[in-house]
Amino acid sequence: MSVATVRWSSGCLYIIDQTLLPTEFREIELKTAEEVWEAIKALRVRGAPAIGVCAAFGVLVGVRQQEAKSTSDVLLVVDETADYLATSRPTAVNLFWALDRMRNTAHNNANLDSSALIDRLTAEAVEICEEDTRRCRAIGKHGGELITDGDGVLTHCNAGSLATSSYGTALAVMYSAHESGKRFHVYADETRPLLQGARLTAWELMRAGVDVTLICDNTAAQVMREGRVQLVVVGADRIAANGDAANKIGTYSVALIAKAHNVPFYVAAPLSTFDFSIASGDEIPIELRGADEVTHGFGKQTAPEGVKVYSPAFDVTPSTLIAGIITERGILRPPFIESIAAVAGPQSATF
Ligand code: MRU
Repeated sequence: MSVATVRWSSGCLYIIDQTLLPTEFREIELKTAEEVWEAIKALRVRGAPAIGVCAAFGVLVGVRQQEAKSTSDVLLVVDETADYLATSRPTAVNLFWALDRMRNTAHNNANLDSSALIDRLTAEAVEICEEDTRRCRAIGKHGGELITDGDGVLTHCNAGSLATSSYGTALAVMYSAHESGKRFHVYADETRPLLQGARLTAWELMRAGVDVTLICDNTAAQVMREGRVQLVVVGADRIAANGDAANKIGTYSVALIAKAHNVPFYVAAPLSTFDFSIASGDEIPIELRGADEVTHGFGKQTAPEGVKVYSPAFDVTPSTLIAGIITERGILRPPFIESIAAVAGPQSATF
């Protein structure tokens, strides 16, 4: 069952406010570039592809807000809004990828009058959104083959419908296997500190009728030791040219645990999540989050006042721990430097 995570309708941008889930399902309108920035920063909209889609529409929100009249006004506002939205979160490369597409579309069509240019930009943002759904469907088709009847599949964070325009990446693999009638079981890590696994993954898999059990993050080793897990599939926020993959903090530990138990560990991500310009995961900027999310999560104080906190939002799983990367173009296998180079290039810009 798909959810319209980000929706553009009659010139207005709507998102599901994911900070309210699972107890409240509410769509909110983002009327200004500042509201779009805040929604990304506060994780009202989150997940690498969904952030990119939201930011693309966010550029249109900026153009409308500034009432850009001439073509040169539109170009200026596109650049300013894109620069501004790019400061919201640093790790997911889909944000920068989508903003670059909007910028390039604007400058490549500078010969149009302002109204035609805005129409062209709107079409581009809609295309980024629809293309993301097609990519996710293809990821599901390729990755669904990895699941066999009776499997236990573990995932971390939320790489589902809510993290994309719809259908998801890691969860697309599960949705596809479910649709083809396979019977399997999903273990969802709760994903401290913001509980995307508990609040979002458990919620959307249950809605879709996929058999899911929620586990605390520190239970992953035990479920693998008990032989309950045959496959791990997670999403990614940025993948380097050598296959090192940044994803939600805790993913690296899951990969190490999987290795220790001979459980294959897969990453599912569209090519818009690849950063072909960086050689390894060492170059991926890792977002640091505020102490409050750890000490006062969801309004309850759980640590002494004033304690020092270190809270990176993401970690990097070295490619040596990854069995394969499930993309819209098929499953990339080691050696990743070669398999990733084979899908890099301009053709990866659209799908
Ligand atoms: O901080 P978040 O919730 O935006 O982190 C999301 C993740 O780490 C996802 O696994 C990743 O973006 C892939 S989404 C298809």
